[in-house]
Amino acid sequence: MRTLDDLLASGVAGRTVLVRTDLNVPLDGARITDDGRIRASLPTLRALTGAGARVVVTAHLGRPKGAPDPEYSLAPVAARLGELLGTQVAAATDIVGDSARAAVAGLSDGAVALLENVRFDPRETSKDATERGALADELAALVGAGGAFVSDGFGVVHRVQASVVDIAERLPGYAGTLVLTELSTLRRLSETPDRPYAVVLGGSKVSDKLAVIDALLPKVDTLLVGGGMCFTFLAALGHPVGSSLLEPDMVDVCARLLKAAGDTIGLPRDVVIADKFAADANTRTVAAEDISDGWMGLDIGPQTVRDFAGALAGSATVFWNGPMGVFELAPFAAGTRGVAETIAGSDAFSVVGGGDSAAAVRLLGLPEDGFSHISTGGGASLEFLEGKSLPGIAVLET
Ligand code: 3PG
Repeated sequence: MRTLDDLLASGVAGRTVLVRTDLNVPLDGARITDDGRIRASLPTLRALTGAGARVVVTAHLGRPKGAPDPEYSLAPVAARLGELLGTQVAAATDIVGDSARAAVAGLSDGAVALLENVRFDPRETSKDATERGALADELAALVGAGGAFVSDGFGVVHRVQASVVDIAERLPGYAGTLVLTELSTLRRLSETPDRPYAVVLGGSKVSDKLAVIDALLPKVDTLLVGGGMCFTFLAALGHPVGSSLLEPDMVDVCARLLKAAGDTIGLPRDVVIADKFAADANTRTVAAEDISDGWMGLDIGPQTVRDFAGALAGSATVFWNGPMGVFELAPFAAGTRGVAETIAGSDAFSVVGGGDSAAAVRLLGLPEDGFSHISTGGGASLEFLEGKSLPGIAVLET
């Protein structure tokens, strides 16, 4: 696979380079609540601008419906990117139209332009390769002869999309710094983890995590389950779960996993329950088998945090994906905070698997440097650990 270093060695001064990044950050209106993905994109962008490239960044935000939608504009991201880079970022108001062409034409050596949300164009996510190819042709034309493509949006390399896959079939493609770092970390987890190896999984749905549980169970020494998904496991043990999140059609699957895993899977012994899904709900901490009708579990309990800390003690490798509770609401944040602090305080090689867990680390103000690596890719890192081929990586290897 050709890398950013290969591109830099070939000389980029004065050349236009299209960089696919993942700038899909959480927003509250136009306010960015976690700029982690923007910061993660900086090393590649700085390397290119420092070498005199004219950098055109393409990225998505959220899941707009294939048409411009101000709610999903990348304009706030362009402003933040400019602040972090310490230079003005030209923000195009379209993707491959007049505004994009003008922004690219106006670039001087070492300058950066950001195209508008690439998912405003329905061809980006089309299932039809011809449609995606037409958008990729237009992106390649924007860059022009002598241009290159750098794939650095690790969070989207599991997607077959025009700006991820099809573009790399049209321009010379290189893997950026972030993609390379993510891949080497995840390879260490899946190929040569130091033992004991513990995994902590949370998040809402078992169905989203089933493939990764199946892939990891034979490889790990401990698998701790919290978050909304633990209630389907508790139901599989025959416990009542009240109005907690439950996937009825996954109960048998959880029962099978628990039987096959023996002691490897650890479940909560206590949970924080609430009478409604709100910060001002009435709450109680109860044993995991004592959830009453009309109450819902929204966090793991303090005993479980201690149990999980005990199970993690002495681990040489820890992978954590998914919050332990509804950490965005203060009464249900303690479980995620407790588990995150335990992992951050350990000497293990520790990896946070993107998405909500990475956001939780930053939103709860936990020390980021306590973790060996915080992935930017939620779905992408899980698919890698499931052993799936990532199309945005595979295309760089051809
Ligand atoms: C993510 O947030 O995981 C990435 O940006 C990918 O987004 P997507 O799931 O909408 O493709």
